[in-house]
Amino acid sequence: MSTQVVPDDAVIVVFGGSGDLSRRKLMPAFWDLYLTGLMPERWRLIGTSRTGISDEAFAELARDGIEEFGRGVSPEQEEAFASFAANLTYRGGGFGPGDTETLVAAISGAEEAIGGEPNRLFYLAIPPAVFGPITQGLGEGGLDERARVVFEKPFGVDPASFAELDETVHAVLDESQVYRIDHFLGKEALQNVLALRFANGMFEPVWNRQHIDHIQIDVPESIGIGTRADFYEETGAMRDMIVTHLFQVLSVVALEPPVSLESDDLMDEKSKVFQSMTPLRPSDVVYGQYESYRSEDGVAPDSCTETFVAAKVEIDNWRWAGVPIFMRTGKQMAAKHQTVTLAFKRPPRQMFAAKAGGNGSFVSDGLNHLTLDMSGDPGFSISFLAKKPGPRMDLGPASMRFSYEQSFFSGPAVEEGTRLDAYERLLHDALLGDRTLFTRADGIGRTWDLVAPILEESPDCHPYEDGSWGPQAAMDLIAPRGWHLPEGGGES
Ligand code: BG6
Repeated sequence: MSTQVVPDDAVIVVFGGSGDLSRRKLMPAFWDLYLTGLMPERWRLIGTSRTGISDEAFAELARDGIEEFGRGVSPEQEEAFASFAANLTYRGGGFGPGDTETLVAAISGAEEAIGGEPNRLFYLAIPPAVFGPITQGLGEGGLDERARVVFEKPFGVDPASFAELDETVHAVLDESQVYRIDHFLGKEALQNVLALRFANGMFEPVWNRQHIDHIQIDVPESIGIGTRADFYEETGAMRDMIVTHLFQVLSVVALEPPVSLESDDLMDEKSKVFQSMTPLRPSDVVYGQYESYRSEDGVAPDSCTETFVAAKVEIDNWRWAGVPIFMRTGKQMAAKHQTVTLAFKRPPRQMFAAKAGGNGSFVSDGLNHLTLDMSGDPGFSISFLAKKPGPRMDLGPASMRFSYEQSFFSGPAVEEGTRLDAYERLLHDALLGDRTLFTRADGIGRTWDLVAPILEESPDCHPYEDGSWGPQAAMDLIAPRGWHLPEGGGES
């Protein structure tokens, strides 16, 4: 991993500059990096899309995004915002093979203004169908020199489109220039899995099939699809979340100790996890759709797009064989969480069983879990049984929690941390040329193969009530176990 902090000078181009992702995530992230002193000394950012907007409108869009989704602009920061906004311009018009001039001219202008030979960072915040032509345009316009290209997920939509895109991309770019982003990999709590497992002696010895009963990766979302119907109707929860974010999370949780923390060594281990996973079986996958989905703006009245997926997956290797891994994600659910739970096996002999529960039963579930929280106040907690105070040997549930907020951001005794959200971290890495937290083609190719049987023949889609924990079939999938969430979300 790089030790450099301030990136070299750069011209940044955001394709889809006036779109949802740019407004919600990218502009707030650039503003934060700017405030934290993590942007290059000299930089320009050009937003672009087929329909043009003025430079002023783009600066306004950036500001709106920063106010609504980022840290805002305080009255003392007005001057800083004006200097930030002075680096932003917008160029409308198409871009692709045979149509590169306008953007090439804009980039040359920005490079001249900066001086020297700045790096070029292209961010493709657009649907995967246009990744190919844009990349070809970069090659044709000679923009691939000094370039790094960030591709939003999903990279392809199935095995065939992945293979085609991979070929197109590699015809223009060297793999070292390709940054396939999956922003979950930039989350502190997920990176912390490496620290937890390999910087400590107490977790790794139990991180295997001898001690773990099952794993849950649970990412319910309380939001619906908002204004993203066009994207979502084509994509659905399997491609939007499972084969991308949740699989990537699993690769970090399940990987073998890497030779080092260098990019290739880590990517090798993640790829091995994907190689060891068995293709998903239709009987292990539940699709759902929230009841009001078909009345969302832009959604077909008979749409079969899944807004919910629960799946059981397996990693057939020495460490994890026989440990079921349950994944769940969906829109318009009862609450938002992003958790990974390792549920431990029960002790071999249960001498407390008779006294544990009030009714003489053993205290049921929710115990001996290690749960990583990737959203809200990130951190992790451990739940276990403890002796209840009093004259009898009665047991009660207890827990301990590590919180980033408490340990690194508050109180006089704690070390000051730098608060970087996932997009900030990854954009900064891309500006520095550090690919450690990005994904590699072989891994992505394999993930598409793993879900191909499901994409070829979608499971039936179960309706579920808005604001619920999803269809009953998802509870049945995990039974006799239950979904483990702080509020007991969805336990059967
Ligand atoms: C995006 C998905 O990649 O991740 C969205 O396209 C999802 O559908 C989002 O809501 C969740 O990310 P986060 O971490 O911002 O809540």
